[in-house]
Amino acid sequence: MIDAKPTDFIQTEIEIAKYAKALAHPARIAILNLLKSRNACICGDIVDELPLAQSTVSQHLKELKSVGLIKGDIEGTKVCYCIDDQKWERVQALWNDFFKQFNSGKMKTDVQLKEIVKQKYSEIALQEKEVNQSSCCGAGGCSTEVYNIMTDDYTDLLGYNPDADLGLGCGLPTQYAKIQKGNTVIDLGSGAGNDCFIAREEVGETGKVIGIDFTTAMVEKARINAKKLGFTNVQFIQGDIEEMPVESNIADVVVSNCVLNLVPNKEGVIKEIYRVLKPGGHFSISDVVLIGELPENLQKDAEMYAGCVAGAIQKEEYLGFISNNGFTNVSVQKEKSIIIPDDILGKYLDNAELEAFKNGNTGIFSVTVYAEKPVIL
Ligand SMILES: C[S@@+](CC[C@H](N)C(=O)[O-])C[C@H]1O[C@@H](n2cnc3c(N)ncnc32)[C@H](O)[C@@H]1O
Repeated sequence: MIDAKPTDFIQTEIEIAKYAKALAHPARIAILNLLKSRNACICGDIVDELPLAQSTVSQHLKELKSVGLIKGDIEGTKVCYCIDDQKWERVQALWNDFFKQFNSGKMKTDVQLKEIVKQKYSEIALQEKEVNQSSCCGAGGCSTEVYNIMTDDYTDLLGYNPDADLGLGCGLPTQYAKIQKGNTVIDLGSGAGNDCFIAREEVGETGKVIGIDFTTAMVEKARINAKKLGFTNVQFIQGDIEEMPVESNIADVVVSNCVLNLVPNKEGVIKEIYRVLKPGGHFSISDVVLIGELPENLQKDAEMYAGCVAGAIQKEEYLGFISNNGFTNVSVQKEKSIIIPDDILGKYLDNAELEAFKNGNTGIFSVTVYAEKPVIL
């Protein structure tokens, strides 16, 4: 059974509940209706219009203002209240999405999504590599799958270990990571250790590599690989990268390959990266992003989610999370379009939807993003 904490819910669920709570009184609905009907700010005379005492009205106004549903600006000796139209657009979009998903019966919490991801990658870790590559979704049952569509060729990279390469990446983050001898490198969602062993080659004997992954079978596989290679400075820790089980300011470099798209709270991970990097440290992350909206069926399907596509967000939003959380010199080092074969798209879209998708402006891209944590904070 999944035991969810309130903070484990999807951001939109938390937001919807926040606004619903703020609206949960008929007096507040009456106040909102009054403000909207005037179509202008009301300074002071709200109490004259409602069958309520001044102190009660003030209390309700305070509640509505605290979540941003109304604005309250001081003008002389009065506070003037108005509807915050921008906020209401957001509330309306949230409710529209909520009902769309609710009616389809496909709404999933962050915890459920993470469980699906863990289960999928556990199956992959426990499969023979050949089975994984020849079967759809590892355990899914067709001939080609999203897991392998975006993989780059690692075989020429120094430190490459075939046992650690499960074909799960969507770029070569170490290529742009400027790793130096003696560095401490953290790899987020390290899988069987593919990028960790490349990073180990670069940090040498004096450096350190830490891989973090929340799938038990992946961590075990990675540890077996490290042991076979005799590395004592490559460590694999089981944990959720939304709350990294490592101290602050310890890493010179953070890398990650095709993982953040699977994480419900991507901004949370960006904040965590900032926390664990030393001042002056940097990251290089390969990931899947979107330009334009994915068709609804693709977006919602959990298996597609585990295969990196449905959990991807808009490129601009992704880059915004990075620059809005203290990072500088944010740059996209590499970008390539990902073509999903028709047999995969056909599992999620009917013919008309498939045609519309292919002829539309929506694109799925693999990007490798670089950014720095400033030296002086
Ligand atoms: C697409 S695979 C990539 C693995 C590896 N980076 C590679 O390129 O071979 C995604 C990995 O991220 C891990 N993962 C997904 N979400 C995670 C989270 N919130 N915390 C830690 N690991 C996560 C999965 O268990 C899986 O091993």
